[in-house]
Formats: sequence, structure tokens, C-alpha cells
Amino acid sequence: MLIALTGTPGTGKTSVAKILQKEYQVVYLKDYEDAVIYYDEHRDSKVVDLDTLREEVNALNKDALYIIEGHYAHEMPVDVVIVLRCHPEELGKRLKKRGYRERKIQENVEAEAMSLITSESILYHGKDKVFEIDTTGKTPEECAKEVEDILNGQKEKYRPRINYSEEILKWY
Ligand SMILES: Nc1ncnc2c1ncn2[C@@H]1O[C@H](COP(=O)(O)OP(=O)(O)OP(=O)(O)O)[C@@H](O)[C@H]1O
Ligand SMILES: [Mg+2]
Repeated sequence: MLIALTGTPGTGKTSVAKILQKEYQVVYLKDYEDAVIYYDEHRDSKVVDLDTLREEVNALNKDALYIIEGHYAHEMPVDVVIVLRCHPEELGKRLKKRGYRERKIQENVEAEAMSLITSESILYHGKDKVFEIDTTGKTPEECAKEVEDILNGQKEKYRPRINYSEEILKWY
């Protein structure tokens, strides 16, 4: 059973995964990145070879439970997707604290306000396999407990319904 733990940068995937790691097997997609990254001269940027990453994930033993952590986790061949969400205002603060540039903050906050990762997850896996956790105002420990709730079959509370789209209107 493969569980994706995904979300916009800064929603807390790594912080939550580090807690879950005490009890579950966690695969950090970042650890594979060196092997699967190539440089696109045309676009002058690094590109992750998702197909190779998918092969790596596919090679995991499906009889065991693995949590696949990373921003691309929902693009992997997983059984369940858990999307960490964060209110755009709080996400902006978290990213600023991390020293992100203004443009990068804006880009990520917009993606979060548009529910981009949840939409992609539903598109790839269907809505019954996708769950959301609101991390706003919660500690990583509280969020890790909610991940465990989902793993223990508590599903209704976590069906995708988070909507921050009214935040977008405030920017214009
Ligand atoms: N629940 C939370 N409440 C407040 N701050 C948090 C929470 N979770 C994480 N943070 C803080 O937000 C920042 C980003 O967290 P983290 O690195 O876990 O995010 P991420 O989703 O793994 O990001 P990336 O996609 O860039 O790897 C960190 O500085 C962390 O301390
Ligand atoms: Mg991370």
C-alpha cells in the first residue's frame, strides 16, 4: 500500500513525515532526485524525470505500507493521496521565514489558493482516493495524528473540501 503525502511547498510535508517515520516506512522523493534530475538547456532549468521516479516507486514492495513524501508524490503510482493544505496567508509567512523570494512566495501561495495539488490529485487518482488535511494553526504533531486517522480508516472528515479561492479576490 503506497500513500502519497503531498502539498504545496511549505505546507509541512517533510515536518510531518519526520514524525510519521517513527512508526511508518517513509520514502522521501527528494532522496531520489539526484538520480532522476536532468538539465534542460533549452529552458535553463532542472527537470525531474517523473517516469524514472515512477519506476523507483513501482519497485517498492506493495504488501508493505509506505508513505511517499514529496511535492511530486501524487504524480506517482500510489493507492491513496493525502494533500497537506495551508491557508495562503499563513503559507506566505512560512515561506518568507524560509527566505523564499517574493516571486516564489507569490507563485506558491497562488497555487495553494487555487487548490492546484488537490485538483491534480483528483484528476490522476479519482476523488475517493484523495484526502486533505488543513495544517493552518496546527503543529506538525497534530497533522501527523490526522494522517494516522486517515490510515486508520477515518475518511469522511478528510474528503477534499478546502477552498481558499476567496483569498484570490483580495489580491486585486
Ligand atoms: N504545522 C506547521 N505549523 C507551522 N509551521 C510549520 C508547520 N509545518 C511546517 N512548518 C514550517 O514550515 C516550513 C516548511 O515546512 P516543511 O519543510 O515541512 O514543508 P514541505 O512541505 O516539506 O516543503 P517543501 O515542499 O519545500 O519540501 C518549515 O519552516 C516548518 O518549520
Ligand atoms: Mg519538504
